[in-house]
Amino acid sequence: DWSMAAYRAEMVQKIRDQVGSGKVICALSGGVDSSVAALLIHEAIGDQLSCILVDHGLMRMNEAADVVEMFRNHYNLNLKMVDASDRFISQLEGEADPETKRKTIGRLFIEVFEEEAAKIGGADYLAQGTLYPDVIESVSFSGGPSVTIKSHHNVGGLPERMNMQLVEPLRELFKDEVRVLGKELGLPDSFIGRHPFPGPGLAIRCPGGITREKLDILRQADAIYLDEIRKAGLYDIIWQAFAVLLPVQTVGVMGDGRTYEFVCALRAVTSVDGMTADFYPYDMDFLGKTATRIINEVKGINRVVYDVTSKPPGTIEWE
Ligand code: XMP
Repeated sequence: DWSMAAYRAEMVQKIRDQVGSGKVICALSGGVDSSVAALLIHEAIGDQLSCILVDHGLMRMNEAADVVEMFRNHYNLNLKMVDASDRFISQLEGEADPETKRKTIGRLFIEVFEEEAAKIGGADYLAQGTLYPDVIESVSFSGGPSVTIKSHHNVGGLPERMNMQLVEPLRELFKDEVRVLGKELGLPDSFIGRHPFPGPGLAIRCPGGITREKLDILRQADAIYLDEIRKAGLYDIIWQAFAVLLPVQTVGVMGDGRTYEFVCALRAVTSVDGMTADFYPYDMDFLGKTATRIINEVKGINRVVYDVTSKPPGTIEWE
């Protein structure tokens, strides 16, 4: 794509002009936006960029390790993974309120990130994968009615608190353009086509109190579900798909025994921008097969249901 190649070269020059010999840090999650921003900045300034991946223990199966392997081995990018899962989970244990979960996670994320930034001697700039729609949204929000359904932007207070200037190379781009730029930078399709994943991660897919055990059960069910979606060739058609572990136990039979285990809800939606969404109309064979696999393979789940709510009136996430 010639225009994206030109944009890439132009942005690399802009980043060099802005940063000079300064140091930049970036919170890398493995999502498309932070990944593309990090690669572009890395191309511009190499080792002046340090990336930090905070593993809050709320990521999906193997997710943190996959991100680390990709960025370190394929790009030789300066990336530190911090396993902060005990710190996050111990503070979230038993927490059931969605907004409290988000606030606790946001606060801890900032704490951990600040500590890690201090360990590498601080930085002059903070990199963010802000997109054009984020820029517009924050403008219209400040002028419009302040109705917050969910407090989304978990690290919103970071730049002010850390007194750093922002490097935001994707500010002029829409999501589809970021994907083209990612391809241009050699980012593998498995990263470019990734479904969105919320900052608070599995915590908001575990309604009722959070426990380590529930997170483990959820992670396994979610991995099987996504595996079936990929095998069926549906991953790229669906905007976002995930499992939710309900805080409800039901009676079942397995072999010659009675079981009393959790219910797992499956969610899948199509959408253009996440603002509205339709539930995905799977065929029943797919759902039946996936449910059977989850119940057979995941200890702790004995019933699976499918969420047929669109947005509005539902939201995509359950919390
Ligand atoms: P909802 O559930 O509001 O989600 O329909 C719309 C999109 O936003 C994601 N989402 C979040 N992303 N922090 C995030 O970074 C959050 O707290 C959060 N809550 C929802 C959701 O996964 C979907 O893509």
